[in-house]
Amino acid sequence: MNLKTAYEPYFKIGAAISRWNLHTEAHMKLLTDQFNSFTCENDMKPMFFLDMNKNMSEPQKYDLNPALTFENAIPYLEFAKENGISMRGHTLVWHNQTPKGFFCENYNENFPFADRETILKRLENYIKGVLTFVQTNYPGIIYAWDVVNEIVDEGDFRKSIWTQTVGNDFYVKAFEYARKYAADGVDLFYNDYETALDWKRDFIIKNVLTPLMEKKLVDGMGMQSHLLMDHPDLSDYKKAVESYGALGIKLHITELDMHNTDPSDKSMHELALRYKEFFKIYLDAKKSGKANITSVTFWNLLDETSWLSGFRKETSYPLLFKGKCEAKEAYYAVLSAALGPDTP
Ligand code: GLA
Repeated sequence: MNLKTAYEPYFKIGAAISRWNLHTEAHMKLLTDQFNSFTCENDMKPMFFLDMNKNMSEPQKYDLNPALTFENAIPYLEFAKENGISMRGHTLVWHNQTPKGFFCENYNENFPFADRETILKRLENYIKGVLTFVQTNYPGIIYAWDVVNEIVDEGDFRKSIWTQTVGNDFYVKAFEYARKYAADGVDLFYNDYETALDWKRDFIIKNVLTPLMEKKLVDGMGMQSHLLMDHPDLSDYKKAVESYGALGIKLHITELDMHNTDPSDKSMHELALRYKEFFKIYLDAKKSGKANITSVTFWNLLDETSWLSGFRKETSYPLLFKGKCEAKEAYYAVLSAALGPDTP
């Protein structure tokens, strides 16, 4: 048995991968054996699609239509095509991992910010260029895009280089452009972290999703779900899943992991039990029709390749696989949530 088969009746199961994984045969075998979706951890972010050398060397030529490069993304797209595996696109618009020069006159970060209209034109052509490239050369591979990532923070819209240069409506514009250029059947998502906090859930529903839904610009909500062992509460999380679900748009769990610094059997048993509770929430929501979950993606494949150890500055053991692609107890727990307790 494997994850993708066990969850086939319910939703896709994915993992985020890096170049390291892509160039490690055993990792990619694990990916194709267990998963039917993947996300590039980094290589489809604006800093990897924008060809800033070209933009800066001929700023007049590229002023409104940024030069792009696809060399980082192509190996993943080729892999997906060859192996019949789908991808989530991540992420068209974000305040991080986007070169500051994108927002500046002549694409030069030492120059003043360009005006709103210039940046919006660049954004439109960026989105057009990325979507057109993948849809023309790899049709059907990317089934969903995170159009905008993480625009809510500290009780309000996040103050970022985007709001500073374009204004608070930049995310609506991004969705308009994405809708304009996305092929039929490609779903557009808003993605964020800590989406089960009461205030944040309510803010996102009221100020981000509802206005986008009124304009038919958004198809789904992405709950990143970087979990801790004691946060969020299962009941808060379930409530959030059902609240987003009640909007009638799709729900993706986009970046699932569970920070845990103790690799002992006892602690990994607790990790397994907690993962199982989350998957029960997903399955219950899907089966009861309370949330149309169509994809659940783990953020990385193996403990050793998790971003968390670097981010938290302490070794983390947050995933279902480890070492030489060995399944941990958490793997069996997640499988058994879908198949029942006697899963091998
Ligand atoms: C956020 C982003 C991801 C990634 C993770 C860390 O959650 O959405 O793209 O950068 O942080 O890997």
